[in-house]
Order: sequence, then structure tokens, then C-alpha cells
Amino acid sequence: MIRKAVIPAAGAGTRLLPATKAQPKEMLPILDTPAIQYVVQEAVDSGIQDILIVTGREKRAIEDHFDRNHELESHLARRGEEDALGSIRELGESARIHYIRQPTQAGLGDAVGLARAFVGDEPFAVLLGDSVMDAPVPVTMQLMEAYEQHRRSVIAVESVRPDQAGRYGIVEGTPMGPREFAIDRLVEKPRPGESDSNLAIAGRYVLTSDVFDALRTTRPGRNEEVQLTDALASMLGHLPMVAVAIEGKRFDLGNKQDYLRTVLAFALMREEYAEVVWEAVASLRAEKGES
Ligand code: G1P
Repeated sequence: MIRKAVIPAAGAGTRLLPATKAQPKEMLPILDTPAIQYVVQEAVDSGIQDILIVTGREKRAIEDHFDRNHELESHLARRGEEDALGSIRELGESARIHYIRQPTQAGLGDAVGLARAFVGDEPFAVLLGDSVMDAPVPVTMQLMEAYEQHRRSVIAVESVRPDQAGRYGIVEGTPMGPREFAIDRLVEKPRPGESDSNLAIAGRYVLTSDVFDALRTTRPGRNEEVQLTDALASMLGHLPMVAVAIEGKRFDLGNKQDYLRTVLAFALMREEYAEVVWEAVASLRAEKGES
């Protein structure tokens, strides 16, 4: 039974400046909803009620977002805007959200390591705050099901184009089922020729608490940061792990192109906005004289 989730949301977001100068990238709206709200919702939809968000310098926006805003609520109530009222009220009520601040941006591994006291010795989920999913079953729940079956740490993966592999943590594995692999090797952001695999870590994990001891002794790796992938790699010899190819699609906010794709894809998923996207594209093209 997985009861707790950790959402690291303390990255610098430098590839999205200036939008991320005074707010975390996890607060960037995907149309009308900050990305991190989708991530919290995924954890809640997977049955998790205790969530620790690891924040950085600009933590206020995230805390305020999940807090009650009584002034706004009474303003909306006075104007009879029931839908808007419901959408902001439900937020903080669906889970107990806790916060911890990462003092220095020392990497994803460092951020997860800060969750030790919150997690204790239970298995727990990790959901990266800058990846959102479109999946028939919440991806975290897919991992939880695999955990219940194998009782081992489980890492979500997706296939990426080989030329993109260097952007991700890469898993080398031996197939053990239609969507499952026994993990043989983990490499964070391999350089060309360092790995033949194109199975990328997709920003969702269910981990046993053994990871905290491993993180303690993990030295900074790629980009001079303490990498979660390196800590997991150091455990592989004595703690076998499973990779699950996610059913669904991952979107990320890693850079401006990906962010734009994410916003468009999410708009197209909503009937009331899909038409607007196509209309806008058609009329902008016509204005520019393209067919
Ligand atoms: C992190 C992880 C990497 C994973 C990626 C998914 O990298 O370190 O293993 O594949 O998230 O988005 P980052 O994108 O923070 O550089």
C-alpha cells in the first residue's frame, strides 16, 4: 500500500526564462491549470493522500495555490460563479499537502533525499512536478500495481528517439512481461555511445525507502548534481528493480518547445478549446499567406 508521494518542484527552470524568473516552472499554466495541479491530481487519483512538495526559492506561489483563498472565494460566491468557486475550493481539500524547501539546487537526488523524515520506512511514490501525463489509468497507479506484484522499486519508462536519449535517465532492461523489464543498468543522461537503450525514465517512480541510504552516499554526477538515477543505480546490485513502460503519454515543461506542445495537446483534449486551436491556426496561416 503506497500512502505517500513526493513531488520535487525545486528546479531552476532556466530554459523557460523569463516566465520562470519569479515563479517555479511547475506553476506554469497548461491553459487554465498550473502543471503541478495535474501532478497532485494524479497522486490523489492513485489513492495517495499525503503529498510532500519539495520547493525551491520561489515556493510561495505553489503554497498559495493549494491554500484556501477566502477573499477570492467570497468574491466568487457574491458573483454567483459556482464553477470557478468549486474548482478552487476542491484543490486543497483533496490531499494533505506538506512542504519542505531545498536549500540549494543540488539536484533531483538531493531533493528526494529531503523527504526521508516524511516518508519513514514505507515505499513511496515520486512524481516529477514538471511532467504531466495523459493516461487511461493514472501512471502512478500503474506503478503501484507493479509494486504490489513485485515488491520492488518500480520506475516508469517510455521509448524516446535515440537522438533524444541524452536528455534522460536511461534504463537497460530484460523484458519480463508485455510492459515490464528487469532493470540491468541505469545511466543518467548518457553521452553518445554510452548506452544502446532508448527506454527513458519518465518522471514517475515507486521506491522503497532504501533509496535514502543510497542517496546519502551518492556524489554529484551529471551537471554536478546529485542524481536520483545514480543512487538507484548503486542499489541495483543488491536490490533488483522493475521498469514499467507507461500506458499513456508524458508531456514535459523542460523547454519552451515542449511547453508549447503540452499546452496545445491539453487544449486539444478539451472539446471547448480544440475548435479554438484549429480556427486560430487556420486564420493565422491565412493571414501569413500560407495554405
Ligand atoms: C530528470 C531525471 C531523468 C528523467 C527526467 C524525466 O531529469 O534525472 O532521469 O529521465 O527527469 O523528465 P531532468 O529533466 O530533471 O534533467
